[in-house]
Amino acid sequence: MKIIKDHYFHKAKRNGYVARSAYKLEEIDKKHRIIRKGNFVLDLGCSPGSWLQYTSRIVGEEGEVLGVDLQPVNHSLPAHVRVLQADIFELTAKDLEISGGMVDVILSDMAPKTSGIRATDAQRSYALNQQVLQLAEELLRPRGMLLVKAFQGAPLGELRNAFRNSFAKVKLCKPKSSRAESVEIFLLGMGKKQNN
Ligand SMILES: C[S@@+](CC[C@H](N)C(=O)[O-])C[C@H]1O[C@@H](n2cnc3c(N)ncnc32)[C@H](O)[C@@H]1O
Repeated sequence: MKIIKDHYFHKAKRNGYVARSAYKLEEIDKKHRIIRKGNFVLDLGCSPGSWLQYTSRIVGEEGEVLGVDLQPVNHSLPAHVRVLQADIFELTAKDLEISGGMVDVILSDMAPKTSGIRATDAQRSYALNQQVLQLAEELLRPRGMLLVKAFQGAPLGELRNAFRNSFAKVKLCKPKSSRAESVEIFLLGMGKKQNN
């Protein structure tokens, strides 16, 4: 991962965050109120762990957070946070239940290994998000929230349509802390529609 030593990097260091990415989630959350006290939250692509740090603080001890990543998380976390080292493509919704049931919020900051070829990378990111959407179908409770990182590029329109089928409201978010030159953009699904 390329480390950019900008304002957010230094702010993250000062505030004890393991990565500057925390501020992207914080900005989106402050604007749209995704995560609430007591929520059960799934954090996909959670390493090195700054979204876990932010989320665990917001949900508090009545809430629970389950993080998943191919990579380990190497810093200590509160007792209401668990981390599973696994590939999202090898997991079923059953593996990701929290306290044996559905979750209130699913977050995904997952990024594929980039090839440098824009169309290929956008396609890989789309594949990750299709898997997240499929898991959300079973795992996310009605009226729940889903936030995913996507790449600006061809499949974004398809992803947005898929979100519109499943959520009452869909927003595209580009937080200030996400570098302007980065192709990343966040897609937020608010209020999961009830399955018929
Ligand atoms: C940008 S980092 C996440 C940063 C994290 N949100 C934080 O705040 O510290 C993206 C992560 O996605 C993970 N990832 C990519 N593909 C994955 C997959 N198939 N299954 C699980 N994790 C994956 C990578 O290992 C990487 O750690």
